[in-house]
Amino acid sequence: MGNCVCNSSAKVDAAHTSTTISAISKSDASSSSLSLPIEILSSPNLKPFTFNELKNSTSNFRPDTLLGEGGFGYVYKGWIDEQTFTASKPGSGMVVAVKKLKPEGYQGHKEWLTEVNYLGQLHHPNLVKLIGYCVEGEHRLLVYEFLSKGSLENHLFRRGAQPLSWPVRMKVAIDAARGLSFLHNAESQVIYRDFKASNILLDAEFNAKLSDFGLAKAGPTGDRTHVSTQVMGTRGYAAPEYVATGRLTAKSDVYSFGVVLLELLSGRRAVDRTKGDVEQNLVDWAMPYLGDKRRLFRIMDIKLEGQYPQKGAYVAATLALKCLSIEAKARPPMTEVLATLKQIEVPKSSGRSSQSQRRRVHVPIKKSHAPINLTRKAAFPLPSHGQSPGVH
Ligand SMILES: Nc1ncnc2c1ncn2[C@@H]1O[C@H](COP(=O)(O)OP(=O)(O)OP(=O)(O)O)[C@@H](O)[C@H]1O
Ligand SMILES: [Mg+2]
Repeated sequence: MGNCVCNSSAKVDAAHTSTTISAISKSDASSSSLSLPIEILSSPNLKPFTFNELKNSTSNFRPDTLLGEGGFGYVYKGWIDEQTFTASKPGSGMVVAVKKLKPEGYQGHKEWLTEVNYLGQLHHPNLVKLIGYCVEGEHRLLVYEFLSKGSLENHLFRRGAQPLSWPVRMKVAIDAARGLSFLHNAESQVIYRDFKASNILLDAEFNAKLSDFGLAKAGPTGDRTHVSTQVMGTRGYAAPEYVATGRLTAKSDVYSFGVVLLELLSGRRAVDRTKGDVEQNLVDWAMPYLGDKRRLFRIMDIKLEGQYPQKGAYVAATLALKCLSIEAKARPPMTEVLATLKQIEVPKSSGRSSQSQRRRVHVPIKKSHAPINLTRKAAFPLPSHGQSPGVH
């Protein structure tokens, strides 16, 4: 993880030209340990919260309001008044998710700022909505809309989770592709850089939204083909050429999309250390089966119990294969990925596929998946091409 937060790189580097608000808080200004620039791009949609307000809205960050833990902090369930956005009694008003960063200095701050600035400017049904933020002394918090079904990661891999049906998996893939496509085709292109199952959140109707914009980066402009960065991301999801060279393009996101698509098909994690050598890396393990119609069933999630259309699964698998091309140029753009996914025949019923619309695939009994260990695997700088840290 880079350890330099310089003013210019801490700003959202997309060509947002709106005025910046300098908001160096009192204690930031006086504290030598965390004297950081805070330039929040003007956004009428973002509410600045005080730390006390968020403390009250989460009952003092009580453990029973904890929704999850990520690499940068804890996420709590809170309540705010729908009209005034002030803290309301737990159980009344509007539910929000409050992310409280671990007070560990520079890097968290930098990502917090990137997130505030991107999500303050970008609005789309498939991006999580940022309601507000808090910057007070060393405290850095983010307040999001609450997505009641939590992360895709939990649904796919958590022990005891209700298996997701084929139509829901395809809907999630389409929604996530829409979110990425929106970013890649924005006036100033945005590369998301941390596309993974834990960053895809689901609302009550299984609408999927991308969260966590802390690593997002402006795409290349003018004649440039890529942006050079310190390699950040999550092992198993990051594109090989990006890990090797630090050269980032939108096609790096397309590779990560391919990995998540594979997770949706197989119900297996991108990296699973509980498995034997050959099966630890999902891409390496699944690759030989993806273009083979007759052997594809071998990598399909046994939790689907064969309830998926063979043809649709094959289209999705060959799409994943294209997204995972070693050659970045051979990967399709997200608009094409989205169009292909939309063509996949999805049985109309929201739950299990109906008899007439699917052909049951007979799956030989396989050994069940090993217990899943939900250990943290936050975004981290990947060992790579030796670019100096902090050149993020
Ligand atoms: N807006 C939200 N609504 C509901 N639950 C949320 C929301 N945001 C986060 N969560 C929950 O909190 C968990 C932790 O989220 P967080 O983004 O901090 O970490 P992560 O995505 O698991 O890991 P990483 O730090 O690598 O991004 C999520 O997995 C999810 O279950
Ligand atoms: Mg996350």
